[in-house]
Amino acid sequence: MRKIRSIYSRMLNKKRGGFFQNSFIKALLFCMVLPVITGCVPEKKPDDEIKIGVCVYDQYDTFLTQLLECFDNEVNGNEVNGNVSVEYVYASQNQMTQNDQVEEMIEKGMDVICVNLVDRTAPTTIIDLARKNNVPIVFFNRELVGEDLMQWSKLYYVGADAYESGRLQGELAADVCKRNRIIIDKNGDGLIQYVVLEGEAGHQDSIIRTEYSVNTMIDMGIEVEKIGYAIANWNRAQAQTKMAQLIERNGDEIEVVLANNDDMALGAVDAYESAGVPKTERPAVFGIDGTDVGLKAVADGSMRGTVYNDKEGQAEAMYKLAIALANNDDPDELGLVDGKYKRLPYTIVDVRNVDDYLEKK
Ligand code: GAL
Repeated sequence: MRKIRSIYSRMLNKKRGGFFQNSFIKALLFCMVLPVITGCVPEKKPDDEIKIGVCVYDQYDTFLTQLLECFDNEVNGNEVNGNVSVEYVYASQNQMTQNDQVEEMIEKGMDVICVNLVDRTAPTTIIDLARKNNVPIVFFNRELVGEDLMQWSKLYYVGADAYESGRLQGELAADVCKRNRIIIDKNGDGLIQYVVLEGEAGHQDSIIRTEYSVNTMIDMGIEVEKIGYAIANWNRAQAQTKMAQLIERNGDEIEVVLANNDDMALGAVDAYESAGVPKTERPAVFGIDGTDVGLKAVADGSMRGTVYNDKEGQAEAMYKLAIALANNDDPDELGLVDGKYKRLPYTIVDVRNVDDYLEKK
């Protein structure tokens, strides 16, 4: 079967001229094309190899690295339907590179491709390629707009609800501020002076988390004052640099740091560490993701809390969806919303329950 697949993909490759001269191949081609013409696509046999391509926006993203480790565990731990092979590629934050990578994956005969878009507003080339070659796409983590997902029936999204992550971070921060008012409101003015460390501009999680986190704190009765913000692109080192500037500008006025993810929260902690500020005089720092390092920081008190981004659940959903699509099974059995979306819930993690999450590892 693997051999037939590779012959078939060579036939599809227009660069190889003269291939059709072989009459055996002509007969083979006829046999393979006939079911497509008659609309009867053969069911995948249980012992077929399933090939999954995974295209990722960047190789240096902590949360995604851990999500893909979970995906790998799914692949290795589930021997469903015979052999499953996975190929990963990274686009170094370049959408054109990713478009080419998807095209190569299609040429290699992937049954389904999981795509973590570089630019979530520019999926059209990938959608066109997928539709033309009838290869289903499972987009994940970087959510494209609804209209784009509707462009073709075999497009899906696996991720989480950005609004929920913002709301939960706000609830967590409000709760910590209420319970530790005197310690956190260092200048005792009744207001919580805060700064925000934002992820990439234009990313659904940055925009929504920032807005909903702050608004939830206000809704829960915390009076807040924004004294600064910086974009740090999900990145720990960038966050450290930006946070050092915010500390220089605002001194010990900063009482709360709301970071759109754990890596940036940890960058803020690094900045306080380098500035030699004692732990007891630092602001309360909050992240999102629950990465390994993030959870450790919650456990040791350098972060006050985080919001768990369920990488295990997302990896499982991606895997199950990919297998269902490769087998021509009905993906709706996986409980998709609107037949297209699978969103896993977020949960709050603080010092009281962090051990449960550390044990998950
Ligand atoms: C977010 C996550 C960030 C980063 C980003 C990449 O959901 O919280 O840490 O991984 O996705 O798209």
